[in-house]
Amino acid sequence: MVCGVNNSIPATGGGNNGKTLDACTIVIFGASGDLTARKLIPALYHLFKEKQMPRQFRVVGFARREKTDASWRQELRAALDQFSRTQPVENKVWASFAENLFYCRGDLTEDAAYQKLEAQLTSFGHGPLRENILFYLAIPPSQFGEVVEQIHRCGLLNKEGAAWQRIVIEKPFGHDLASAQTLNRELTRYAHEQQVFRIDHYLGKETVQNILMFRFSNSIFEKLWNRNSVDHVQITVSEKLGVGERGGYYEEAGALRDMVQNHILQVFSLIAMEPPVSLEAEAVRDEKVKLLKSIRPLTPDDVAKQVVRGQYFAGNVDGQPRPGYRQEPKVNPNSNVETFVALKLFIDNWRWSEVPFYLRVGKNLPMSASEVRIQFRPTPHVLFAAQCGNKLDPNALTLRLQPNEGISLRFNGKVPGTTLGVRPVRMHFSYDAEFGAYTPEAYERLLLEAIIGDATLFIRRDEVETAWQIVDAMRAGWGDKPLTNREFYSAGTWGPIAADDLLAQLGHAWHEPLVIK
Ligand code: BG6
Repeated sequence: MVCGVNNSIPATGGGNNGKTLDACTIVIFGASGDLTARKLIPALYHLFKEKQMPRQFRVVGFARREKTDASWRQELRAALDQFSRTQPVENKVWASFAENLFYCRGDLTEDAAYQKLEAQLTSFGHGPLRENILFYLAIPPSQFGEVVEQIHRCGLLNKEGAAWQRIVIEKPFGHDLASAQTLNRELTRYAHEQQVFRIDHYLGKETVQNILMFRFSNSIFEKLWNRNSVDHVQITVSEKLGVGERGGYYEEAGALRDMVQNHILQVFSLIAMEPPVSLEAEAVRDEKVKLLKSIRPLTPDDVAKQVVRGQYFAGNVDGQPRPGYRQEPKVNPNSNVETFVALKLFIDNWRWSEVPFYLRVGKNLPMSASEVRIQFRPTPHVLFAAQCGNKLDPNALTLRLQPNEGISLRFNGKVPGTTLGVRPVRMHFSYDAEFGAYTPEAYERLLLEAIIGDATLFIRRDEVETAWQIVDAMRAGWGDKPLTNREFYSAGTWGPIAADDLLAQLGHAWHEPLVIK
């Protein structure tokens, strides 16, 4: 992983971990899509601006629409003006960046298009710009197999050799275990697993990476990070937005596939995994897979008790009316697709035995916030019971992933005065206050890591398959049972009542994500 720098306390590490940035070409398949305009080009522009790109590079956009290099550049400039995280876009930087952008028109299903692409790359010379290639597949998974075969056939993708070629893949990676296995087989027919970089953009988020840094560079917390001290863990990823224009996609996905299979299980495994032997990609990914494999398997009976799904009906978010899910465009008016999931998982290993992990995710909830709350066990005895009552708030550590990124510790303190009063108080660490506002977009880091060739932040084949196994068991438990009344929630609330019952079984309750002003 690339280490960052710190502006107040001297940092350990720095630079690109000694890894070299080879000259290379980035080929984007599906270059006319939203992802290219909103995320990929802004990310590459910022890497260029921060002088983090290789000294020599090219970007080739491959898509079906008729465009020239000039018109594509113009289009991307307009998109950058809209989506760049830094404004205004710097004209001089853009001008030198844009000289490296080229457009190649072609149909993914035609051999001739790949020959054209090959000729385009050869026009950059016979050196590293032709040989070192990052293929970014911003296309539907059903086309992965064909593209990989074609680039292999025209000599652009080789399994061996002095140069490197890598394939970056977006989610969704399949829609169940069987389809993910098929995709994996198709990809690795012409590429080694080490050449395949599966993206989960949560792993590119600064705060998600900080989970590892926080856990394994501080001895005081790691000592408490187990069943002896932790009562339970809550992971919340809540979104204020509804499904909106994405109804077509969402009808196929639902919250379980859209968020749980990938982002939530990733955060979960970073929180709960064992220390890796090193920060090498395989070492970190080995531990994540081990953790996922230690999750207690769910039978259909367990699913009924431990997994809650929900779907929003019309309501208000921030005083604004929101339609119900079934009224959203491209959604079946009788749809049973879930827009909310809450679940309780157990990890069968020595560290976490019998500690409940509660995970929840949903659309049209009252706030947009992601956090992990580690709730510690209560004190064994309340010394101040006579004065303050016999219930003390347990200590809690909250990792705020977004927004107001940071970490908060909650403990009890004496209320000043002559009488004995106790009250929970908090210590907050805030990224902004400590480091300033510079937070690279997830895609900046992920693209850079893919160019460097470090796969730590990407999902390995066995990881994606294990995650599907977990999620498939939940879907199997739901079967085709229609949603019941208890599984609906009004837009603008914290999900169905069943989600509260899930925690109440063990005397727990959801905590609202912390908002730090
Ligand atoms: C995407 C999902 O992967 O992640 C979206 O498809 C979701 O439905 C998004 O809104 C959330 O990402 P973030 O970075 O906004 O938390």
